Amino acid sequence: MSKITWDAGTLVYPLPPVMITSGTMDHPNVFTAAWTGIINSEPAMTYVSVRKERYSHDLIEKNSEFVINLITEKLVKAADFCGVKSGKDIDKFAETKLTPIACTVVKAPQIAESPISVECQVTEVKHLGSHDMFLAKIVAVNVDDSFIENGRLALEKTGLVAYCHGQYYGLGASLGKFGFSVEKKKSRKQRIHEIKHDRAVAKLNKKEIEEQKEMEPVKKGKFDKKDFGKKGDFSKKAKKSKKFDKPVFKAETKKMEKSAFKFDRKKSVQSASKFESKKSDSKFDGKKTFKKTIKFNHNSGVKKAGKR
Ligand SMILES: Cc1cc2nc3c(=O)[nH]c(=O)nc-3n(C[C@H](O)[C@H](O)[C@H](O)COP(=O)(O)O)c2cc1C
Repeated sequence: MSKITWDAGTLVYPLPPVMITSGTMDHPNVFTAAWTGIINSEPAMTYVSVRKERYSHDLIEKNSEFVINLITEKLVKAADFCGVKSGKDIDKFAETKLTPIACTVVKAPQIAESPISVECQVTEVKHLGSHDMFLAKIVAVNVDDSFIENGRLALEKTGLVAYCHGQYYGLGASLGKFGFSVEKKKSRKQRIHEIKHDRAVAKLNKKEIEEQKEMEPVKKGKFDKKDFGKKGDFSKKAKKSKKFDKPVFKAETKKMEKSAFKFDRKKSVQSASKFESKKSDSKFDGKKTFKKTIKFNHNSGVKKAGKR
């Protein structure tokens, strides 16, 4: 095998294409970025590199905030659109029918249809040349709770996409989990023990889910958004509709694995547990978001995966 050498270029792939939201709920903007990633674990830090001429550059610079919304296969067309049209000329939320909803910490909106929205506060700007790199602290992570299964974030079921050399791709099948290359084979005794443990947990969770279902409010009126396959209808029209009953969450227990939800019809107030939400009950009023806000280092999706 021989390799040819080219001049310097940005040939590092695949990358996560994301939709970056900025501005405010009244004047939101969204653009697509691939120059983004995680750069520190504690504190959790990220970056996005933005060309100075982007409309989003001005908004992020002005407010020192932005939100990273992960892209799924269902969102890829809207994401591509947001990566070729500018908020200077059009309202991209209106054009794509994406729904801006309030965040818990930052003023910039998050995208309701995205399964994971990461709230970021800018700590530093690096002027690198073509792009300004906004280094930022992750201050909250909003997760679509329909992807939380038995207390674990089933990220593999969200349909995330990758961006590689000008193309968008689905992720395909798992090739192994973190550390599988050095994993020792489990003894028969260990495997039986694990199966028994998993069954016991599943039994407990089933009971909990049944209890939760009994407490869930009856959702009236239109509650489907076909375009993005979401369960909820987040349109302003639906929110204003008297037919639309706001669901109310009240997480009771400390751990995600044991979180339970109570629906308080009278107050119609969405509140989250101390563990899961950083928002006060008054702000978290069910008008804004159907996502749960979790501490970013909860890391439920990568159990035992170790720090990176
Ligand atoms: C897949 C993809 C990735 C992109 N990545 C970036 C990026 O990392 N940084 C950037 O400044 N522009 C990037 N762009 C281009 C912007 O999204 C595009 O110029 C957009 O129209 C800017 O919108 P705005 O003017 O509303 O901010 C990307 C576009 C696509 C389609």
